[in-house]
Amino acid sequence: MLCKSLVRHCFIAINQRQLHRTHPRILITGGCGQLGIPLAKRLRELYGVENIVLSDIVRPSDALVQQGIYRYADVMDIKQVQELLVNNQIDWLIHLSALLSAVGEKNVSLAMKLNIEGTHHMLELARKYKCRIFIPSTIGAFGPDSPRNPTPDLCIQRPRTIYGVSKVHAELLGEYFFYRFGVDFRCLRFPGIISADTKPGGGTTDYAIEIFHEALKSGSYKCYLRGDTRLPMMWIDDCIQSIINIMEASNDQLKQRTYNVAALSFTPEELTKAIQKYKPNFKISYQVDDRQNIAESWPQVLDDRNAREHWNWTPKVDLDGLVQKMFDYLERENNLK
Ligand SMILES: NC(=O)c1ccc[n+]([C@@H]2O[C@H](COP(=O)([O-])OP(=O)(O)OC[C@H]3O[C@@H](n4cnc5c(N)ncnc54)[C@H](O)[C@@H]3O)[C@@H](O)[C@H]2O)c1
Repeated sequence: MLCKSLVRHCFIAINQRQLHRTHPRILITGGCGQLGIPLAKRLRELYGVENIVLSDIVRPSDALVQQGIYRYADVMDIKQVQELLVNNQIDWLIHLSALLSAVGEKNVSLAMKLNIEGTHHMLELARKYKCRIFIPSTIGAFGPDSPRNPTPDLCIQRPRTIYGVSKVHAELLGEYFFYRFGVDFRCLRFPGIISADTKPGGGTTDYAIEIFHEALKSGSYKCYLRGDTRLPMMWIDDCIQSIINIMEASNDQLKQRTYNVAALSFTPEELTKAIQKYKPNFKISYQVDDRQNIAESWPQVLDDRNAREHWNWTPKVDLDGLVQKMFDYLERENNLK
């Protein structure tokens, strides 16, 4: 009798374990960009290849398809994303699709559609299917009236780019969905993200990536920002880790739904000096364009004390480490090592 009830108990326990998956099933939208590709790679290592669905509207490379599940999904078509969410029993939605700052200014109506309507669709789906949802924001969500050094989590936000306006909209709407409907919305304001193996998507901080490619190719770089323009930046691995940390944080740890995350802050002149430690003959010149106005309205240094205190955010890579990682990767890729 005792033995029979023990067997029954074990059977129920096993079934319950199957019902409560150990790893979340995750859908990434806009996943073929600078952030999505390395994020999917890391999430697959952590939670299993079968649990991560990467989606975008572009034709993926063979290498990307071999890494795991890839699906076409246009965030403007809510039904397409809905079908993916349902069919794959998605728990976490990571919504990356967006037009970035410089590209957005060139196509304001598309930026409004993609960044604002696309976000509406994803929040509605998160509400309907009770998904945890992550939407990145940016230093571009601040404007010329915000304190610039340092810029705290809560301060005046009057951005002057459509990118910034759409990101403030995403922050506010996500927080509204959290307070009104209990949607588990999580958001980080990223600085310029620097990576070696994925291309930047048309932001104001792209110079900090292009400069390395040109340093190797021609030994010089013409920068579109003034030499003393200070902006917050972050190495890609720290960015990916911050997404994982905030997604794994318990609701008790999160005292707010939108956090600044910072790592580095430098000017083109300072970056040039750090590059010259590796390439002493490297030269920089300046031809300033419209992006200077955007950069001048953004924070110089982000205050991320709350992220550090509430869920232990700690970046790992400093400026010298970043320069070394960039050259190591690019020299290996170009067979220079
Ligand atoms: N890269 C940075 O420095 C940075 C900094 C702060 C915030 N962010 C935010 O992180 C997110 C990802 O940035 P990223 O640098 O990877 O951008 P990216 O431009 O490299 O990638 C965006 C992806 O969205 C896809 N996309 C475009 N229209 C789409 C649609 N209709 N449906 C689905 N996908 C579509 C594009 O094909 C592209 O692959 C964005 O929301 C961005 O605002 C990035």
